[in-house]
Amino acid sequence: MLSIIFSAVVVLTAINAAPTPDSTQSLIQEAGYHVIYSYSGTTIPSSVTSAAQNGSLGGLILFGANVNSQTASQIGSLQSAYARSGAYAGSPLLITTDQEGGEVNRLPGGPTLSAKQIGQSANPGTTAASAGTNVASVFKSYNVNVDLAPVLGVFRSPGDFLDEFQRSYGNTSGLVSQCVGPFITNMQASGKVAATAKHFPGLGAAEASQNTDEVPVTLGLSLQTLHTVDEVPYTTAIQAGVKLVMPSWALYPALDNTYPSGLSKKWIQQELRTRLGFKGVTISDAITAGALKNFGTIEQRAVSAVQAGMDIIVVTGNQPSDGVSVAKALADAVRSGKIDSNAWAASNQRILQLRSGLA
Ligand SMILES: *[C@@H]1O[C@H](CO)[C@@H](O)[C@H](O)[C@H]1NC(C)=O
Ligand SMILES: *[C@@H]1O[C@H](CO)[C@@H](O)[C@H](O)[C@H]1NC(C)=O
Repeated sequence: MLSIIFSAVVVLTAINAAPTPDSTQSLIQEAGYHVIYSYSGTTIPSSVTSAAQNGSLGGLILFGANVNSQTASQIGSLQSAYARSGAYAGSPLLITTDQEGGEVNRLPGGPTLSAKQIGQSANPGTTAASAGTNVASVFKSYNVNVDLAPVLGVFRSPGDFLDEFQRSYGNTSGLVSQCVGPFITNMQASGKVAATAKHFPGLGAAEASQNTDEVPVTLGLSLQTLHTVDEVPYTTAIQAGVKLVMPSWALYPALDNTYPSGLSKKWIQQELRTRLGFKGVTISDAITAGALKNFGTIEQRAVSAVQAGMDIIVVTGNQPSDGVSVAKALADAVRSGKIDSNAWAASNQRILQLRSGLA
């Protein structure tokens, strides 16, 4: 009980430590909360450890090539280094990966069934619940605490972008909802693992060639279709208490003709937060994505995303130095007022709430 009270006080103190413009050190530590780094190879680089020590790191995204039998202990050491930094505030780093099931698993141990196979099983809800439990137990053994899954897309035709690798639970919003609710509930049941509903408002209508990792993608769906098909599983996921949502990098002209969802105030604030009532953390898809080639450097993209309401930027590309420079760019944008200080403070609070819950 005492320790619970103590950690609550520590967290509140951190939240109330408003960004003091003259304090470079505290601002870079706040900026660190918003940045997920990537790296190459199976050894966490010393630059990542020093970023944890000085607080300019918010977490990691692991890919298959990062993972071996030493991964769990390396993550444990990184969390310990971070816990000794001034940024810690009782809230651990977010260690994220894509564990969708089937072919899209970065860690060994399942779920072996793909989303599509779960949707086609005799009792999709029960099968999805087991898959969620499976992810939680794999993550516990690897010291990983955020799954960048489930995919909420409602696929449209056999072999399209999501169906090609069996990443969609089904071709109706009813079937997808039936699966994602229990998957999220069971994955998050221990309180130590958080799920991410992606890619808002949905990539189910993308054709196989429409891969936002590679090229700009425009999905010309009507707002009515988006509301009555693609966004329906988000209502279920939010009711199930999903902790994070990842907006997509596709453009949906029905609501915003200029900015892809993840750079769009209309999508993040008007649709996700206001219309659907999501109160959790937003996390970006890969900031190096080809879909964003017309939106500047990764630092400019990160600032635009945060201005639109994105809480966390995933700095893919396997260069920890890119993570450092994105954190510096965010700190500069807060200092100069390009990022609104009230929105920044609210975003810091959402991230710290999520992280302290995972401690
Ligand atoms: C934190 O550490 C990283 C990695 O060594 C370094 O690049 C960065 O400049 C440091 N930042 C601060 C504010 O000390
Ligand atoms: C979904 O796929 C099934 C075949 O697996 C098909 O019969 C059905 O018409 C499809 N539904 C929609 C809404 O496309």
